[in-house]
Amino acid sequence: MNHPETILVTGGGGYIGSVNAAALLQQGRRVIVVDNFERGHREAVPPRAVIETCDLRDEAALNRVFEAHRVDAVMHFGAYAYVGESMTRAEEYFHNNFIGGYHLLNAMRRHGVQRIVFSSTCATYGEVDNVPIDETQPTNPINPYGRSKLAFELLIRSYEEAYGIRHAILRYFNAAGAALEQGEDHDPETHLIPLVLFTALGKREAVSIFGTDYDTPDGTCIRDYIHVSDLADAHLRALEYIKQESITCNLGTEQGYSVLEVIQAARAVTGHPIPVREAPRRPGDPPRLIASARKAQRLLDWKPRYVDIQEIIHTAWQWFLAHPDGYKRK
Ligand SMILES: NC(=O)c1ccc[n+]([C@@H]2O[C@H](COP(=O)([O-])OP(=O)(O)OC[C@H]3O[C@@H](n4cnc5c(N)ncnc54)[C@H](O)[C@@H]3O)[C@@H](O)[C@H]2O)c1
Repeated sequence: MNHPETILVTGGGGYIGSVNAAALLQQGRRVIVVDNFERGHREAVPPRAVIETCDLRDEAALNRVFEAHRVDAVMHFGAYAYVGESMTRAEEYFHNNFIGGYHLLNAMRRHGVQRIVFSSTCATYGEVDNVPIDETQPTNPINPYGRSKLAFELLIRSYEEAYGIRHAILRYFNAAGAALEQGEDHDPETHLIPLVLFTALGKREAVSIFGTDYDTPDGTCIRDYIHVSDLADAHLRALEYIKQESITCNLGTEQGYSVLEVIQAARAVTGHPIPVREAPRRPGDPPRLIASARKAQRLLDWKPRYVDIQEIIHTAWQWFLAHPDGYKRK
């Protein structure tokens, strides 16, 4: 009888990693979560997952985890992921996102683990004129976060050439929404949808809109919001796909919503007026980021279930109503 696969999930205490850990368990896999919980939550880890509290930058500790478990493949979410923070903390971003990843790949190599699914980002593209953005666009990241992710992409490719480790590099656009048991709880929170919903909950007075003079129909930035459960579905497919060959692809809905449209949709979902405050543009915010996800659709046979922004916001709203203080007090 085939034994269930064991997947090591770094960052499994975080927003996207925890939803993926739950999806893997749902499919009958064993899950080992590796997280230092610096930015994640033990409560977010599904109960059936094994927790290894470990920092990816600690090579010896990471090797002990691989010695203790027979791992079949890795999903790698563990990273620092704030563009703004990265602008003044380049060293920490490269240390965590690149060196941490380097230790991970070396531990995989040492222990004969041949598959990795990696959380990359649309920030690897930088400012792109052609929208929707497909994978043939040049990668010119404009901040240390995007550069650290792109650097790790290059390392992964080199480890395939040299050691045969297969990869799925998945460049997500804006992750959003919540699963039944897991939602978004970042500290500090910088993502638009949680901030809008915190305002609806009365935890904030108003939502700041950074820039209202962009070259877009209503002057605010346009983004592609991809539901976290659709990301998990794509990861499961990618994990299978890379048994045959490696893949690099975008994950998005191919729909763009402006900041004002998101706020308007949240007003409709929550019934709350959600006051706004206009603020200057933030450096490095491109006006429009919309994915072409044709490649993932074609090769992974994947299609997002959620494309309507109100539906996406509705799932997040349900989670925040049930967890008004995030994971701290359920
Ligand atoms: N949220 C988005 O919209 C988005 C978009 C594109 C890409 N991504 C990528 O997806 C991944 C997950 O994002 P998220 O929003 O779930 O972030 P998150 O901060 O919620 O989760 C990251 C998790 O990794 C853990 N971690 C960080 N450094 C670690 C280390 N050195 N050792 C062990 N654990 C460590 C944190 O404690 C946290 O639990 C990140 O790699 C991010 O770059 C996110």
